[in-house]
Amino acid sequence: MGTSSRGRISIDSDVARAWTLPSHLYTEADAFAEEKEKIFARSWQVVGHHDQAANGGDYFTAELAGEPLLMVRGSDGKLRGFYNVCRHRGGPPAEGCGSRKLFRCGYHGWTYDLQGALISATEMEGVEGFRAEDFALAPVRAEEWFNFIFVNLDGDAQPLRESLGKLAGQVEKFAFSGMKRCERRTYEMECNWKTYVDNYLEGYHLPSVHPGLNRELDYQAYVIEPYAGHVRQSSPIRGAQPGDTTARRYAEAGEDLTADYFWIFPNWMLNCYPDNISLNIVLPLGPERSVAIFEWYLPEEQHGSAAARASVEFSEQIQREDVGICERVQKNLRSRSYSRGRFSVKQEKGVHAFHRMYAEWMMKD
Ligand code: FES
Ligand SMILES: [Fe+2]
Repeated sequence: MGTSSRGRISIDSDVARAWTLPSHLYTEADAFAEEKEKIFARSWQVVGHHDQAANGGDYFTAELAGEPLLMVRGSDGKLRGFYNVCRHRGGPPAEGCGSRKLFRCGYHGWTYDLQGALISATEMEGVEGFRAEDFALAPVRAEEWFNFIFVNLDGDAQPLRESLGKLAGQVEKFAFSGMKRCERRTYEMECNWKTYVDNYLEGYHLPSVHPGLNRELDYQAYVIEPYAGHVRQSSPIRGAQPGDTTARRYAEAGEDLTADYFWIFPNWMLNCYPDNISLNIVLPLGPERSVAIFEWYLPEEQHGSAAARASVEFSEQIQREDVGICERVQKNLRSRSYSRGRFSVKQEKGVHAFHRMYAEWMMKD
């Protein structure tokens, strides 16, 4: 174990003895800079979804940990990722998204093929030792899982599927492969990205913060299961109860209907309901600012339906409630009165698992 510029970060492995991460890690610029290198530049990050690069030649640009990226589907069907940085003097080989046979740099026109090879650099005659093969676009690791496209800036990171561990099998029961993205919304938040993740990882706040959601779920039967690189939270969905005055979203809820909430280290989440799945990604913008990206996936024939709108509005309401409490908490984490707290053994195993993973990644050299 190494030492972070912040000193040792240590979280007891026993939730009953552990304290939460110190609050300065949620507010200070040097912790933020270190997370970018040790966590965001080393973990698998969702940068797009399949339909953005479905056919050969389709491409889109993205950004990860400040790095400009170019994702492109080759004519061989393989998805590849590159730094979107021209090897001449740093111009942009691609802008936005679309479909191309070649990428032509917007600065002096060097052209690259779909595999990143430099195929033409005009007026470079007489340059000593210049060989086009030495100036291919620098690749990044790209992989796909379900509808999502991932990138990892770390050449030594374990393959995506290995890093997902048991997640793949757990998500299978939801009919995800038949769903397509029908809506995307972004929410800027005045809080650290970890404040948002902490909040996501417990249902402890449901009765106070989300009375509407709490009506749909069986709070008493809420389970939290930490795994090596992710946390599963699951709750049976309640059917209509005798004496109910408000309508239930799942009136016919049976025994095996669950809402499963997966968080995958460090910053992405899948909310799985019987009839829709939403993806959340929280991206740090600054020590105390972040953006939550929400995407809703439904079977295509349901796009635009009243049920689809209801699903989106339902999560929108929950999101507004979460942003409200996260921004309040962020402000309070700055208080001189506060540094660390304790975990509820029953309710906060997920938050504890996140803090353990965070400490481990930040302590790597
Ligand atoms: S920087 Fe790309 S061609 Fe000059
Ligand atoms: Fe919440």
